[in-house]
Amino acid sequence: MQKYIDILASGDLVGLPTETVYGLAADATNSKAVAKIFLQKNRPGFNPLIVHVTDISAAHDFAIVNPVYEPHLEDLWPGPLTVIFPVRPHSAISPLVTAGLNTVAVRIPKHDLALKILCAYGKPLAAPSGNISGKVSPVLATHVEKYFPNIPVLDGGACAVGVESTILDLSSRTPTVLRPGGMEIEALEEKFNVHIASGETPDTIIAPGQLSRHYAPDVPIRLNVLTPNDDEIFIGFGEIESDYNLSVQGSLEEAAANLFSLLHLLSTQKAPAAIYPIPMHGLGRAINDRLQRAACQEEHNVQRVRKR
Ligand code: TXA
Ligand code: MG
Repeated sequence: MQKYIDILASGDLVGLPTETVYGLAADATNSKAVAKIFLQKNRPGFNPLIVHVTDISAAHDFAIVNPVYEPHLEDLWPGPLTVIFPVRPHSAISPLVTAGLNTVAVRIPKHDLALKILCAYGKPLAAPSGNISGKVSPVLATHVEKYFPNIPVLDGGACAVGVESTILDLSSRTPTVLRPGGMEIEALEEKFNVHIASGETPDTIIAPGQLSRHYAPDVPIRLNVLTPNDDEIFIGFGEIESDYNLSVQGSLEEAAANLFSLLHLLSTQKAPAAIYPIPMHGLGRAINDRLQRAACQEEHNVQRVRKR
């Protein structure tokens, strides 16, 4: 563990396990270190990063947390949830992290090693998913090592959730889900009167994970397929005959946990893939969202971040 702390303190990057996906972490208060994330990932500079902390009190240093929401957040964190707050002026967070926005994304991961390293390091860590921009997110240490052979990765095993955190925007009047993810929207609806950001136009992309082509495994993918073509690798869900299955039991949790490993696997096979329909409730929203982006063939060149 000390090795990773020393690397972070020297302004370098570390692969970090979380319950959702592996992150590529840097000291969020060190602009030079944060810049290395953008460089390594080939990430557009205006795409802001999530700041990871151990608890809400640590977030108060740089985020303005509405006290009305705090008890709800105490119930939901640690967990696969990222919340957007107004950023506290003159905070120690590097402006590169927020990409010049007046908001900041905060997450408390539910993973022993992630919390241990955050606790031992004592400063917030900026960490996007540990993949090259546009590619499939890593859910194993080896996935990160493949993308970034020179960056040390703290191995925390396979990610239990398997899709990125749900992003909830609490910076404006209506709590809005910007990205479906590992925390079910139904769990948020209980606590907040949530609105779900709909559609996507280049002008309103505020979480660039919303760019349509993302998680792309370099092979054509068709969704909602009941009968595959002869040349297609068929990916099932539930008890159906297929080449691979996201969850024979029909469990959305299991399917989410298997999703990115399967997309990594498809990248290594040279055949097109067809995917059986995945139900659209609970984690099914996040799974379908990622699958649609993986299946999207067109690159988005217009990548603007709305300023508020
Ligand atoms: O599960 C996760 O969230 C993982 C693990 C490593 O924590 N991280 C992750 O980070 O998925 P990343 O960078 O791949 O996705 C973060 C998303 C991006 O789409 C980014 O645009 C959005 O969060 N984001 C960050 N700050 C924001 C802000 N102030 N307003 C709106 N969106 C923001
Ligand atoms: Mg990502």
